[in-house]
Amino acid sequence: MNIENEMKLSFKSLSRNEGFARTAVCAFAAQLDPDTEEISDIRTAVSEAVTNCIVHAYRNRTGTIELVCRILENRELYIRVRDRGCGIENVAKAMEPLFTTAACEERAGLGFAVMESFMDKLKVTSAVGRGTSVIMRKRIGGKNE
Ligand SMILES: Nc1ncnc2c1ncn2[C@@H]1O[C@H](COP(=O)(O)OP(=O)(O)OP(=O)(O)O)[C@@H](O)[C@H]1O
Ligand SMILES: [Mg+2]
Repeated sequence: MNIENEMKLSFKSLSRNEGFARTAVCAFAAQLDPDTEEISDIRTAVSEAVTNCIVHAYRNRTGTIELVCRILENRELYIRVRDRGCGIENVAKAMEPLFTTAACEERAGLGFAVMESFMDKLKVTSAVGRGTSVIMRKRIGGKNE
């Protein structure tokens, strides 16, 4: 798959960086001229992925979150959010709607479901003790063609 454009960012897993991350992704995605609904979908999906790194991957500590955004062929936006945190033992289970390991913190267990519904593709890979990678793709402007 041809990479037409790419940007990479790395930042600390502080909750104040969640807004920074979604704004950075949307600024990069602006070259595809997304409509307001697409912008809102991208913002929400990035928020969920980055929040998971902050609250789950680096629970009780601060680590580094790596963000890669690409423009692929056919106006496809590619976003990878990667942490080097605790990892996920059972990814399929973690992705089930309403599954959460943080129910006591009033988490709904809907983050992955939201990413899945707002983006075209979602791929999660993880290794316990090594970290998690979330790759999302969305074709921008596809609806009107
Ligand atoms: N980056 C990550 N590192 C480690 N565990 C993760 C990560 N992302 C998700 N998880 C695990 O997967 C579960 C499901 O994640 P999901 O985002 O769907 O729900 P949640 O974060 O628990 O709740 P919500 O997103 O609705 O606030 C989490 O409870 C957590 O156990
Ligand atoms: Mg979540």
